[in-house]
Amino acid sequence: MVCGGGGRIGAAAAAAVLFLGLRSGLPQFRTSFLHTEFESRASKVISQASMKVELLPALTDNYMYLLIDEDTKEAAIVDPVQPQKVVDAVRKHGVKLTTVLTTHHHWDHAGGNEKLVKMEPGLQVYGGDSRVGALTQKVSHLMSFQVGSLNVKCLSTPCHTSGHICYFVTKPNSSEPPAVFTGDTLFVAGCGKFFEGTPEEMYRALIEILGRLPPETKVYCGHEYTINNLKFARHVEPNNSAIQRKLSWAKAKYDGGEPTIPSTIGEEFTYNPFMRVREPTVQQHAREGDPIRTMGAIRKEKDNFKVPKE
Ligand SMILES: *[C@@H]1O[C@H](CO)[C@@H](O)[C@H](O)[C@H]1NC(C)=O
Ligand SMILES: *[C@@H]1O[C@H](CO)[C@@H](O)[C@H](O)[C@H]1NC(C)=O
Ligand SMILES: [Zn+2]
Ligand SMILES: [Zn+2]
Repeated sequence: MVCGGGGRIGAAAAAAVLFLGLRSGLPQFRTSFLHTEFESRASKVISQASMKVELLPALTDNYMYLLIDEDTKEAAIVDPVQPQKVVDAVRKHGVKLTTVLTTHHHWDHAGGNEKLVKMEPGLQVYGGDSRVGALTQKVSHLMSFQVGSLNVKCLSTPCHTSGHICYFVTKPNSSEPPAVFTGDTLFVAGCGKFFEGTPEEMYRALIEILGRLPPETKVYCGHEYTINNLKFARHVEPNNSAIQRKLSWAKAKYDGGEPTIPSTIGEEFTYNPFMRVREPTVQQHAREGDPIRTMGAIRKEKDNFKVPKE
């Protein structure tokens, strides 16, 4: 919720709806209005030949992700903050949930782990930080394991929190694009706040680790912050047409109640200012001459950025 720094679109919309509802003065109307708003965060399924990902909206602007191996019907859940929704999705797909992938210890990501392991005994709970609830497998950089026939590689990306892990998922010997679950390290067009790390660490995470994944890798991030992130990106690079295009697209998605996730690593390099800290335009905006100082400067600027309405 407070993890990313950027969007509060969901919260703002909910507040506006609440305001309108209260003004209407009719309790049933108020309730159904809020219900509609809640339901407008729709789930979405991205299907590939053997890898399927269902986006499960959670809380105000978080996402949980159900990762299914179609060949074995084994599944993993990323950041199950709302366990009942996870269990419902698992039943709906008729798959066997074996694995919890925790990106980091913040409550809006790891806060459902204990309850989920009570509901579904025997789960393996992966994470890179002892502060993660119900942890059974503490992982470190480049460790890998299987979910069914899918390969999961852990990428250590400390900065937002010191134990943050991104999970890179591939289907061995397949041509289908990989997926990476980036928690609060990389967002569509943005990155997480540097609560426990430095600009150097975020540079390493975004450019040297995530940035070296295949460009077609699909990016599944922890929050729906895309529109506000793009408004900041536009402030940094007003002449970047990729930002303009993505912002129009994201607004249309948001108006239709649809997620803006996933993007790809290749796309992020075209509009995400934190992935573009080596570009002269971004460095000029920051009045810095090197990428790591630029990273620090634009993060600081975004922390205090007042998002324009349009
Ligand atoms: C992938 O293909 C290689 C050679 O084509 C083979 O040696 C290997 O066992 C295969 N791996 C899997 C997981 O199927
Ligand atoms: C954007 O493009 C206009 C027209 O080419 C130019 O005058 C302006 O300086 C550019 N702005 C930035 C921030 O590069
Ligand atoms: Zn978060
Ligand atoms: Zn966080």
